[in-house]
Amino acid sequence: MKIVLITGASRGIGKATAQLLAQQGMRVVVNYLRDKQAAQAVVDTINIAGGTAMAWQADVSDERQVVDMFTAIDDAWGPVAVLVNNAGILSTQCRVEDLTAERINRVLTTNVTGYFLCCREAVKRMSHQHGGAGGAIVNVSSAASRLGAPGEYVDYAASKGAVDSLTIGLSLEVAAQGIRVNGVRPGFIYTDMHASGGEPGRVDRVASAIPMRRGGRPEEVAQAIAWLVSDSASYVTGSFVDLAGGK
Ligand SMILES: NC(=O)c1ccc[n+]([C@@H]2O[C@H](COP(=O)([O-])OP(=O)(O)OC[C@H]3O[C@@H](n4cnc5c(N)ncnc54)[C@H](OP(=O)(O)O)[C@@H]3O)[C@@H](O)[C@H]2O)c1
Repeated sequence: MKIVLITGASRGIGKATAQLLAQQGMRVVVNYLRDKQAAQAVVDTINIAGGTAMAWQADVSDERQVVDMFTAIDDAWGPVAVLVNNAGILSTQCRVEDLTAERINRVLTTNVTGYFLCCREAVKRMSHQHGGAGGAIVNVSSAASRLGAPGEYVDYAASKGAVDSLTIGLSLEVAAQGIRVNGVRPGFIYTDMHASGGEPGRVDRVASAIPMRRGGRPEEVAQAIAWLVSDSASYVTGSFVDLAGGK
């Protein structure tokens, strides 16, 4: 049974991915930051349905907590074979001229440093060079890396640009080590994330400007992630799946 770590899986896209990968037979680690109850509810749903899951609290931007999380998974179940780097944040909508260093650094520390740290620990366990059996990593980026999120959160968009570069660079570094690294770039998905930007109804507001005229569901993103980590995508690395209704 493959072991998958999904960061930020207490709700939204991470939760949908946890449920789908559990249905497909993986053992799932549901990482979360604050909402223990929500993470436990995801775990309970999976376990009641006959799957195997556990919750693990860790701030992905904290190096020690990331290392401890991977070690705890090693001890409980064995090395992670699949990593879905998903935990991401954004802040209230504003223009670049109103950004503070504190905010920019907070976004970058979670969205970029957090992804790097989890990739590092995963590669140490998956890489043939380190005696690992190979593996798959999916980095959840955003359509914002292409669109720039003007007037909303260019800092967030830039963090996702960094995630795209990480995905390309790491995929090439580890391609010969049995590890595939790919990205998904969702856009306008119905989750609670938009409330942290100060506009819970954002997806409905922009829906008419999306070529498909609707927002996306977390389950639609989960399907792409599940394909990328599956053996069906065995020759796919350094690639991106855009899930933004044509945007
Ligand atoms: N929703 C969209 O339209 C959209 C579009 C493009 C890309 N994305 C990307 O998709 C990913 C998931 O987004 P979402 O909309 O599902 O987000 P969400 O509903 O806001 O959920 C965020 C998740 O990340 C966790 N989290 C936040 N900071 C963390 C940290 N430092 N360490 C560990 N976990 C942390 C949260 O845990 P707690 O609940 O415990 O706080 C929660 O489980 C993000 O990378 C986001 O940038 C989303």
